[in-house]
Amino acid sequence: MPIRVAVGMQWGDEGKGRVVDLLSENHEIIARFNGGDNAGHTVTVGNQIFKLHLIPSGIVHPHTIGVLGNGLVINPNTLLEEFKMLKESGVVVSPERLWISDAAHLITPAHRLLDQAQEAARGKGQIGTTGRGIGPAYVDKSARRGIRAGDLLNPDTYSQKVLTLFNEVNKTLTDLYHQAAINPISMADEFVRQTQFLAAYVKPVSALMRKALKDGKTVLAEAAQGTLLDLDQGTYPFVTSSCTTAAGIFSGLGIGVQQVDKIIGITKSFQTRVGSGPFPTELFDDTATFLRGTGANPWDEFGTTTGRPRRVGWLDLVLLKYAIEINGTTELFLTKMDVLSGLDQIKFCTGYRRNNQLLSELDLSCDAADLETCIPIYESTPGWKEDLRPIRSWQDLPQPVLRYIEIIEHYCGVPVTQVSVGPERSAVINRR
Ligand code: IMP
Repeated sequence: MPIRVAVGMQWGDEGKGRVVDLLSENHEIIARFNGGDNAGHTVTVGNQIFKLHLIPSGIVHPHTIGVLGNGLVINPNTLLEEFKMLKESGVVVSPERLWISDAAHLITPAHRLLDQAQEAARGKGQIGTTGRGIGPAYVDKSARRGIRAGDLLNPDTYSQKVLTLFNEVNKTLTDLYHQAAINPISMADEFVRQTQFLAAYVKPVSALMRKALKDGKTVLAEAAQGTLLDLDQGTYPFVTSSCTTAAGIFSGLGIGVQQVDKIIGITKSFQTRVGSGPFPTELFDDTATFLRGTGANPWDEFGTTTGRPRRVGWLDLVLLKYAIEINGTTELFLTKMDVLSGLDQIKFCTGYRRNNQLLSELDLSCDAADLETCIPIYESTPGWKEDLRPIRSWQDLPQPVLRYIEIIEHYCGVPVTQVSVGPERSAVINRR
């Protein structure tokens, strides 16, 4: 059975949570394949708002199985908090409903301390990490000394592995970063005790996924973060430490390269970014305040994970086209169109000026230093005053909205199939 992928086209926070929630109605397995609790996916169902960092947002649908693949780094504490929050809202996450790959790596409190110490030591060159230990956990994975979820199934060696890791981190924290020492023994005891609950969820996910696909189950792969934060294809070094693009589904779930039926690229109708790094179309004026909102509404542009105000700007079609090509995106889901209501003109970037040359496509590896030298070239289209939130059919969209969509499609070469006009589940307009 083919797989579908929902992937972010920008720097994360495109609204993937709500798109995955919507698509989950027609899928049996919803699988995450990268990242950790640095992600923040918000789903609004009626008057309930679910803010999830780790568990796939499709879990809110009772018929689904959620999967955390081997490509993830998992903070057990976050998982516990999400179990509790979901249970309070009537969603029970049993080991039958959530599979955690035995090859997924664990984030420990030591990783978080290290992340924060490393970020502080970067001084002016700070990446703006979420401070959740993501980078250090992936470093340990690559260095082949990480702790995997499957280690929990061997209690004798598990405790020793945790202690060895904490001893090493302690040395790095004190010797290299001059931080206060941790107590590796008590921290390890506590971590081992607190993580016991996980064992019931640990499964050979790769084998289960292969079987599920053979059995014809419908699979939706949910990417975390966005294409421009990808470790290889993003604005390096201002990126996260995992593969955030559609390519990550195979290695991050442990399945062979096979037919992907749709790659749904999710993009906001403007641009946002949290953390540092180049952002050619960034705005600092009244329009920025307008796009960001005050923070009074859950949908205003403040980070789900850290609460930081997001940087905002006009839609960058050069970067969008790049993301479409990197992922092989087959269609676009345009989010937050309602936020643009009230603007006289909508600007969008269709090229860059760089070293006295005009650029309409990225001819660089999205390297941060190169992108910093790109000056955006804007075009504009008339805005609209209508409130889009009550609209539910494509024909009822005001003419300037349709024109803006047409421009995006024309420039990027893929159809926009859905547009969201509000935070709740029903506030989506399907083109068909
Ligand atoms: P890290 O993933 O915590 O190491 O952070 C690296 C960069 O990715 C920082 O700029 C973060 O703000 C950004 N980042 C990580 N996860 C997300 C996300 O889910 N949405 C938006 N930005 C993110």
